[in-house]
Amino acid sequence: MSKAAITGVHGYVPDYVLTNAELERMVDTNDEWITSRTGIKERHILKGEGMGSSHMGAKAVAGLLEKVNTKPEDVDLLICATTTPDFVFPCTANLICDMVGIRNVGSFDIQAACSGFLYAITVGSQFIETGKYKKVVIVGADKMSAITDYTDRTTCVLFGDGAGAVMLEPNTEGLGILDSIIKSDGVGQNHLFQKAGGSRYPPTHETVEKRWHYVYQDGPSVFKFAVKNMADVSAEIMERNQLSGGDVAWLVPHQANKRIIDATAHRMGIQTDKVMMNIHKYGNTTAATIPLCLFDYESQLKKGDNLVLAAFGGGFTWGAAYVKWAY
Ligand code: ACO
Repeated sequence: MSKAAITGVHGYVPDYVLTNAELERMVDTNDEWITSRTGIKERHILKGEGMGSSHMGAKAVAGLLEKVNTKPEDVDLLICATTTPDFVFPCTANLICDMVGIRNVGSFDIQAACSGFLYAITVGSQFIETGKYKKVVIVGADKMSAITDYTDRTTCVLFGDGAGAVMLEPNTEGLGILDSIIKSDGVGQNHLFQKAGGSRYPPTHETVEKRWHYVYQDGPSVFKFAVKNMADVSAEIMERNQLSGGDVAWLVPHQANKRIIDATAHRMGIQTDKVMMNIHKYGNTTAATIPLCLFDYESQLKKGDNLVLAAFGGGFTWGAAYVKWAY
């Protein structure tokens, strides 16, 4: 049976850079706190009216198609992982397809907060493994600045905007996404959420006044769950694939907090220089963090490298994937 291999990756971040120094002028915070508690130095923000996550997703997908020399009409399916869709409907995947000229094929969104990309490659790889499709595009795109409260110092320092996309194609050489685990637990629903804007609390003057359209996070509670679950699921995927720390060429973790990443790497027995890290320049871009890591580190990856992808996010949702790099 074929496995789904990543055959190309591309990323996009908007031009505007929001530094810790600028945040110091907006809320009561400082570079030392942000750097030591999170590892973040700056993040990119999408400016401009009428531009949503699809704008960045389309840039990432257009760059990907060019790179892997694939025409839009040859794509069989596009899945977009996002927590900040342009609209409640139609879905952002539909919009991205329209922008890049992919027509008459299925496209849909997956919403699993910061684990969205991991969920999306898990779903997308099934279509390749069954032989139904040959070219599946997975894109993670989030404009977190749209739901970030820039008067709340506990969350506004954390998030940034960006997108990353990969192409999945069949591989019969034993390379590709060899295993994945996805998990969720609704126990997290009150610790990390955007209260209004959905069907339970549609927008009203009151919801806006109460600032319910922004991310709410009980940071310390989420931190505890994230550290435990991201490390546990990474250990689980290593165990069931008989991998030791020494077998893993790269840990590709969701970039929410450097301290969570360090704890996961420690539990897996992986040295710091084998951990992909770009949180310092992008912050937490939610569904885009993992593909942006792959994009930034692409030139260092070698065919056959063992990668463990790991994520944790709102819901709670979390998961891991074991990938043998295919090029
Ligand atoms: N600047 C200065 N001080 C601050 C700031 C800030 N930006 N933010 C909070 N503080 C203060 C707090 O008010 C608190 O002060 P107090 O002790 O006087 O009450 C103190 O710093 C410590 O605050 P904590 O919230 O306990 O800080 P913590 O060390 O937990 O770090 C953080 C906060 C970075 C949010 C951390 O909890 C975290 O990373 N949580 C997990 C994030 C995560 O993984 N999210 C999941 C993915 S996101 C998604 O799915 C959309």
